[in-house]
Amino acid sequence: MNILGIESSCDDTSAAVLTDDGVQSNVIASQSIHIKFGGVVPELASRAHQKTITQTVAQALKESNTSIDDIDLIAVTQGPGLMGSLLVGLCFAKGLALSKKKPIVGVNHMDAHIYANFIDEAPEFPFVCLTVSGGHTQLVHVKAPFDHEVLGTTRDDAAGEAFDKIGKILGLPYPAGPVMDKLSKDGNPKFHKFPQALLKEGLDFSFSGLKTSALYYLQDKSEEWKKEHLNDVCASISEAISEVLIKKLKRAVQETGVKSVAIAGGVSANSMLREKAQKMAEDQQLKLHIPHITYCTDNAAMIAITGKMQAELGRFDDLSIRPYASL
Ligand code: KG4
Ligand code: ZN
Repeated sequence: MNILGIESSCDDTSAAVLTDDGVQSNVIASQSIHIKFGGVVPELASRAHQKTITQTVAQALKESNTSIDDIDLIAVTQGPGLMGSLLVGLCFAKGLALSKKKPIVGVNHMDAHIYANFIDEAPEFPFVCLTVSGGHTQLVHVKAPFDHEVLGTTRDDAAGEAFDKIGKILGLPYPAGPVMDKLSKDGNPKFHKFPQALLKEGLDFSFSGLKTSALYYLQDKSEEWKKEHLNDVCASISEAISEVLIKKLKRAVQETGVKSVAIAGGVSANSMLREKAQKMAEDQQLKLHIPHITYCTDNAAMIAITGKMQAELGRFDDLSIRPYASL
């Protein structure tokens, strides 16, 4: 089966072609327009998707040496995401499906982050997935394909949002997560102990207190001090975020008794989190799955693989499919 995946839920326009031999192309057009605003501006995001979607899809087909006539299924993000952004990808996919008489399947973006783990080496069911992105932080018990139980979620900011907001306080460009990750490599994670919230309380997360704590900690520091200790502060923030994520993941494993764990979403690209997950998996004798770094942040290959798994279960949509911002 040849699948064309299309993703446009936030600020990346992406198209991918997946065949029985794996991912043949995965084109991602990231929108730099938001950098000067320090966050995603929804109206600008949908306009930028409009501008790039046609060429992004054309490029994905070209790189995979595939024509639209060779495509057997169109998989497209249905939600969650920004309504204007979702509409662009979904309407494009529906137009293509209608004109080329192709079946279409709507994909849940959060499911797709989980199933990004199946692109290279499929985990065995059941497993627990820590899905950490700019909009969500979830611990999910994945019992069977699309049989999910959300064990815990964030009560306020998502982990990626915490990186981005604290990075903004530090004067770093949006999205600050990858920048802080890089800076952390030359910093001391024990330089300052930032709070790790809700450690004794179940499997929910909270990161807004960390953001406030960083704000208070930095407010009376001079510009020279901030410059001198930027790497140490970034490393200490990364330590606080990744430590709480791993402690809760470990608790979820103990509560469910699973033997496999996965991490997914943009923040799963974080090197400290990846190292801590590896260490935890070794200590607890668990099989750990982490997507290849290109499949961690938003991409259409994860939409294509999830669409494929839905199609294998006979789950298709029709042209009445609509975007669902809070899916
Ligand atoms: O999954 P994603 O691409 O988009 C959403 O669905 O939100 O995740 C984007 C988030 C941003 O908050 C970004 O700062 C964060 O993932 N992120 C990282 C890293 N790479 C991306 N955070 C920490 N370390 C990274 N290496
Ligand atoms: Zn995402």
